[in-house]
Amino acid sequence: MSQSPSIPRHIAIVMDGNGRWAKNQGKPRSAGHQAGSDALKRTVEAVGRRGIDTLTVYAFSSENWHRPSVEVKHLLELFLNALNRDVAELDQNNVALRFIGHRMAFNAAIRDGMRRAEAKTLNNDGLCLNVAVNYGGHAEITHAVRQLAQEITQGVLRPEQVTEQAIEEKLYTQGLPAPDLLIRTGGEKRLSNFLLWQMAYTELHFTDTLWPDFGAEDLDAALADFSCRQRRFGTLPQVENA
Ligand code: IPE
Ligand code: IPE
Ligand code: MG
Repeated sequence: MSQSPSIPRHIAIVMDGNGRWAKNQGKPRSAGHQAGSDALKRTVEAVGRRGIDTLTVYAFSSENWHRPSVEVKHLLELFLNALNRDVAELDQNNVALRFIGHRMAFNAAIRDGMRRAEAKTLNNDGLCLNVAVNYGGHAEITHAVRQLAQEITQGVLRPEQVTEQAIEEKLYTQGLPAPDLLIRTGGEKRLSNFLLWQMAYTELHFTDTLWPDFGAEDLDAALADFSCRQRRFGTLPQVENA
């Protein structure tokens, strides 16, 4: 199943570097997060224009709660503002929104905003935009496995039915293809607990660009890098396969 992809169907992004961007500008970290939210709007448009089906962005990890409370509070306010202000425009642009992560940790206003945004954009058939909030790969897999264990206890599932497919069907990303390309901005070369199950064969692209500076040129550089990759999925390149 070796293939030379030209354009990814699904891009995942770890939007990192807001704090360092703000520091470089002599501004508070909150200004970096605001600029990061503008970068996300630009990127959604650019990704949509390039005919990519699905974009999954890491906005807030399950570990980000451990940041100073003033920063967490600001991030939650920014999220609620985006839910109130930006969903109509996304809807007009035919974007289908979905949130992945454990949402019970959020207050009722945010949970309601997420629910309304998903319902409003449910039937859109343009870009599928998944926003990971209070998301952690370990938590997601644990949650999936716990649900299967409960089904076994209830007698509706047998242990041998705990297959890779059964686990996938319990993940937040159920029904979506795995990401073809991961972009991480901000220079760090790690996954930070993002889409651990889903990224088994994802191509990884790391850039030093800080997220608020990310633009169409950076996206195109990542796409060019991706188009040069040879994906093998554990098999041999086609020419040696004969
Ligand atoms: C990413 O930027 C945004 C979130 C994690 C919410 P950071 O806030 O991690 O920025 P740096 O890594 O400190 O520069
Ligand atoms: C990953 O960035 C999470 C998000 C971008 C939302 P972090 O800044 O939290 O990751 P670490 O701490 O550098 O691994
Ligand atoms: Mg960071």
